[in-house]
Amino acid sequence: MRDAYIVTSVRTPGCRRLKGAFKDTRPEDLLAHILKSAVEKTGNLEAKMIEDVMAGCSFPEAEQGLNIGRIANQLAGFPAEVSGATVNRFCSSGIEAIALASLRVMSGWSDVVIGAGVESMTYVPMGGNAPRPHPDWTKEHADLYTNMGITAENVANRYNVSREEQDEFAFNSQMKAVKAMKEGLFTEIVPTPATKFVKQEDGTMKKETFIQDFDDGIRESTTLAGLNKLRAVFAVNGSVTAGNSSQTTDGAAASVIMSGDMVKELGVTPIAKVKVYSTVGCQADEMGVGPRYAIPKVLEKAGLKIEDIGMFEINEAFASQAIYCCRELGIDLEKSMVNINGGAIALGHPLGCTGAKLCASLVSNMKKHGVKYGIESMCIGGGMGAAALFELCE
Ligand SMILES: CC(C)(COP(=O)(O)OP(=O)(O)OC[C@H]1O[C@@H](n2cnc3c(N)ncnc32)[C@H](O)[C@@H]1OP(=O)(O)O)[C@@H](O)C(=O)NCCC(=O)NCCS
Repeated sequence: MRDAYIVTSVRTPGCRRLKGAFKDTRPEDLLAHILKSAVEKTGNLEAKMIEDVMAGCSFPEAEQGLNIGRIANQLAGFPAEVSGATVNRFCSSGIEAIALASLRVMSGWSDVVIGAGVESMTYVPMGGNAPRPHPDWTKEHADLYTNMGITAENVANRYNVSREEQDEFAFNSQMKAVKAMKEGLFTEIVPTPATKFVKQEDGTMKKETFIQDFDDGIRESTTLAGLNKLRAVFAVNGSVTAGNSSQTTDGAAASVIMSGDMVKELGVTPIAKVKVYSTVGCQADEMGVGPRYAIPKVLEKAGLKIEDIGMFEINEAFASQAIYCCRELGIDLEKSMVNINGGAIALGHPLGCTGAKLCASLVSNMKKHGVKYGIESMCIGGGMGAAALFELCE
C-alpha cells in the first residue's frame, strides 16, 4: 500500500453551544471556511485537484443534514467535479473521515482527498431533533441509548474514579488550555468568520460578520474549590458535573491527505503519515472505556508498544472515562504528553468535528515537539472506541 500524508491539518476555534461565538453561524459556513482555508494553506494545491471531501458529522440533519460534505465544498467555491460525502460514527466521525480519505490514497484510488469534521451543537442538539429509538428493542435493550452522562457515572462507579480525581483532571485541562492560549500555541486554529444579528435603530435585525480566533469555552477563573462545589448533573449523588464533562461546542476541522506522488508534484512538505486506524465495540452503558481497547488494537497492528508513543490526544468526553483509560493503559498523566494544550473539558467536544480537531492539534504538537509517534483516541456513543496512529515525517 502507498503512504497517506497529512499535508495540512487545521481547525476553527471551538465555541460554546448556544452561548458562544458561533451560535448564529451555520455549520455549512464553518465547514466551508475550514475547507477553503485548508486548500489555501497547501502550497500549490488547487481545489480542482481534490477528488473527494469526506466530512464527519454526528447528527447529520437539519442545517447540517442532506449531505454537508458536498454542500460545504460547493459553498467553499470548489468546482462541481469535487465530490463530497458525510461520515457518521458519532464522536469519531472526524477521524473516521480522515481514515477513509487516507485509505483512498493508500489504495491508489485517489491522490488528494480531504478528511474533515463539523458539528454545530447549537443548531442540532445532541440526540438530534427527533430521536426515535426502536420501540420494541429498547424494552429489552435500553443500554444502546444510554445518556452519555450516565455512562460516565457508570465508569466512575464501576472502576472507582473519585470526584476529586475527576475535578483535578478537569482543573488541569483548563489550566493547560489557559497557558496554551496565552502563549499562542493553538497554531492549528484558523480565524473564522462568525455571524451575529444586531438590532438596528429601526428595530430590524441586521446580519453582521466578525472574526473569531480563539476557543471561547476556556475558563481561566477555574479553581479546584469551584469545581468541587458544582452539583452532579446526571445522577443524584453522582460525581459528573458541568465542570468535569466535555463542553458542548460548535466547530469544524479539516486535513488534506495526499499521496507521495502528489506531495512531490506539488512540492509540499508533509507533516505526518496516517499509519493505522482502528475501532472496537464495548458495553454501551460504559462507552467511555472505548480508548482502553482501541489503543492497544492500533499498537498491535503497528507493532508498537505504549512506551513508543510520545504524544496522545485522548478525548475528554468526561474526566471519569479519560482517567480510567489512561490508568488501565499505563499512561502516566503526570509524565506523559497527554492533551498537552488541554482537552474537551476546556476546549469543547463538537461531536462529529472532534476526530478531525484532535488530528489538527496532535500533528501540530508532534511537529513542534519533534515527536515521532502520536495517537488520538476517543470513546463513542453506543459503546465503541476508536484510535489512530500518526508518524511524523522527517
Ligand atoms: C454537563 C453539561 C450538561 C453541562 O451543560 P451546561 O449547563 O450548558 O454547561 P456550561 O458549560 O454552560 O456550565 C454550566 C455552569 O456550570 C458552571 N461551570 C462549568 N464549568 C465550570 C468551571 N470550570 N468552574 C466553575 N464553574 C463551572 C458554571 O456556573 C456554568 O454556568 P455559566 O456558564 O453561566 O458560568 C453539558 O456540558 C454536557 O452535556 N456535556 C457532555 C456532552 C456529551 O455528552 N458529549 C458526548 C460525550 S460522548
